[in-house]
Amino acid sequence: MDHPRWPRFTGCMAQTTKTQQPHGTRQTDDLILVLAATGKTGRRVLDRLQAAGVNVRAASRNSTVQFDWNNRATWSAALNGVSTVYVALPLTPVPVEDFVDQALAAGVRRFVALSGRGADIWENHGQEMVDLERAVRGSGVDWSIVRASNFAQNFDEDVFRESIMAGELALPVGGMSEPFVDVEDVVDVAVTMLTQDVWVGSTVEVTGPESLRWEDAVAEIARASGRKIQFIDVSPEEFAIRLRAQGLPDADAKALDAMFTEIRRGRLTEPTKGVQEVLGREARAFADYAATAAAAGAWAEQPS
Ligand SMILES: NC(=O)c1ccc[n+]([C@@H]2O[C@H](COP(=O)([O-])OP(=O)(O)OC[C@H]3O[C@@H](n4cnc5c(N)ncnc54)[C@H](OP(=O)(O)O)[C@@H]3O)[C@@H](O)[C@H]2O)c1
Repeated sequence: MDHPRWPRFTGCMAQTTKTQQPHGTRQTDDLILVLAATGKTGRRVLDRLQAAGVNVRAASRNSTVQFDWNNRATWSAALNGVSTVYVALPLTPVPVEDFVDQALAAGVRRFVALSGRGADIWENHGQEMVDLERAVRGSGVDWSIVRASNFAQNFDEDVFRESIMAGELALPVGGMSEPFVDVEDVVDVAVTMLTQDVWVGSTVEVTGPESLRWEDAVAEIARASGRKIQFIDVSPEEFAIRLRAQGLPDADAKALDAMFTEIRRGRLTEPTKGVQEVLGREARAFADYAATAAAAGAWAEQPS
């Protein structure tokens, strides 16, 4: 496989930008570094690769191999002997270009980066993901980018769970719908990019199979979990007041506001075929996510 000197991205007119490469799977002695290995995508990427017998190294601040974006002294041990890196970022700004440079010096020859859907048209949101995309495209080695819409698992593993459990989720979505993507699909796509050559130089936008109104997504969770949950479409001002009352740091409140401003622009509501194109099957439906998560006890009360 050649290692392109120039970024191959040609824009995102279609949801999938793909450069034709010879088919093939990677050598079995490759060592893949999985960053954010305790997170929603990283821990699943790790499980899939381990189950496939691939050599992997899990890294994050709380992994056995410690990696901290804000402590460069931790980077070299994580990168030692690694050929490929899965990169998912925290929500705070990190020195991603310096990391890519150090990874290249350590011998890394492929990056698979997790980004967000619409990263090429965002106006004021997700600068860290835009920087990550630019850094891997300009790296001169193999890269692939998976851009995901809002994760279904935000409702049970992340930011919306507490509100779901409290029975009321209030977000400033301006009546827009969202093609929530199941993290399992995001991870299947990322693992394909990590282990096969055909998606090198590709930016793939992945979503669920349908666009759902937020209140319908919440109603689906209510149905699956047997809980009473209300969704309220609040104004941005009301949302800011609520976040302040919850004691959310200003930087996090700003990041959320920027994300929902982007959602209210309504440019990212249509589903894409990204999952189908990479995996050759339909994306998982939100109702299936909700049923599976509920059956696994995602919204059950914890015993006190
Ligand atoms: N949620 C969505 O709907 C969505 C959609 C599209 C794209 N994304 C993007 O996905 C990325 C997050 O991926 P994710 O959801 O898989 O992760 P996640 O569940 O948000 O978990 C964050 C991960 O980052 C690690 N981390 C946090 N601070 C760190 C630091 N200073 N140094 C090293 N590691 C650190 C955490 O591990 P430790 O605490 O152990 O360090 C954890 O593994 C973000 O860039 C987000 O914008 C999210």
